Amino acid sequence: MPALKTVTLPDGSQMPALGMGSWHLAAGRRPLAEEQAALNLGLSLGMRLIDTAEMYSNGASEQLVARVIADKRQEVFVVSKISPQNALSERSIRHSCERSLRNLNTHYMDMYLLHWPAGVKDLQTVVATFEALKQEGKIRHWGVSNFNVKDMQRLYSLENGKNCATNQVRYSLSDRSIETLKLPEWSEQNRMPLMAYSPLGSGGSLLGNPLLAEVAKKHQSTPAAIAIAWTIRNGWTISIPESGNINHIKDNASAAAIALDQDDLNKLDAAFPARYISHWSGA
Ligand SMILES: NC(=O)c1ccc[n+]([C@@H]2O[C@H](COP(=O)([O-])OP(=O)(O)OC[C@H]3O[C@@H](n4cnc5c(N)ncnc54)[C@H](OP(=O)(O)O)[C@@H]3O)[C@@H](O)[C@H]2O)c1
Repeated sequence: MPALKTVTLPDGSQMPALGMGSWHLAAGRRPLAEEQAALNLGLSLGMRLIDTAEMYSNGASEQLVARVIADKRQEVFVVSKISPQNALSERSIRHSCERSLRNLNTHYMDMYLLHWPAGVKDLQTVVATFEALKQEGKIRHWGVSNFNVKDMQRLYSLENGKNCATNQVRYSLSDRSIETLKLPEWSEQNRMPLMAYSPLGSGGSLLGNPLLAEVAKKHQSTPAAIAIAWTIRNGWTISIPESGNINHIKDNASAAAIALDQDDLNKLDAAFPARYISHWSGA
């Protein structure tokens, strides 16, 4: 199983730069076998990371991931997330972690994220419990999601808060809000990789943009592959496009091999300027 590109985590270990999301999978939109085949194909094409969460389809997304990783656990980087309402005490965090492990039918997660900050009263307890789960081998790394710079500064002020391995945030050509909030600068300065979610604009109008089609034509590629390649252009961002369609999966996997040049980047900057679009935290 090829790993086309990786990102270095703060502890020096490697994480695949391109993976697959699963928010809308196992939700009855397609036969499960079709989505399972799509995820399997993505893995075989080098997208060796699958992102899920306890809240996606009430655990059914994690159960779908279990079927996909069953015969190749060690080759897949599995990310899941705990919802803030379950992150209120050590006991409830441990309960959620055990349930996710059961759903995923594995004894460890490669990355365990706090899904968003709102509603978490005692972040120190979350960090301390994540650290304990790491020591016990139930999770390999932990991180956060939907944290802005202020949230990250608060995290860094806590004991072991700097052991955070990543921050998963909404980031695409059509939503560059995190740039206006100076999150990429802070993250780069603090060597904190970002995971870009909704890199294709989450089913919006992004992929129909004519400029994207023009850049895609130059690279003999597709708008989706260019949009994904843009999110992983800097070597320290991970991208997790979602698809349950095998043709789209092929397309998405091809993004890892695309190197956008300065002319492409300038054109994309002009067509998709960084501006604050919406409140991105807590999505
Ligand atoms: N941490 C958080 O708060 C958070 C929030 C949102 C999402 N996420 C994670 O990020 C993942 C991705 O985000 P997302 O699902 O919002 O949006 P996305 O990946 O930007 O877009 C997914 C949509 O694009 C379509 N698509 C995928 N590949 C395509 C291609 N090559 N050509 C044309 N259309 C294509 C998919 O349909 P088909 O299935 O038909 O291909 C689907 O409708 C989620 O699954 C989830 O794991 C995390």
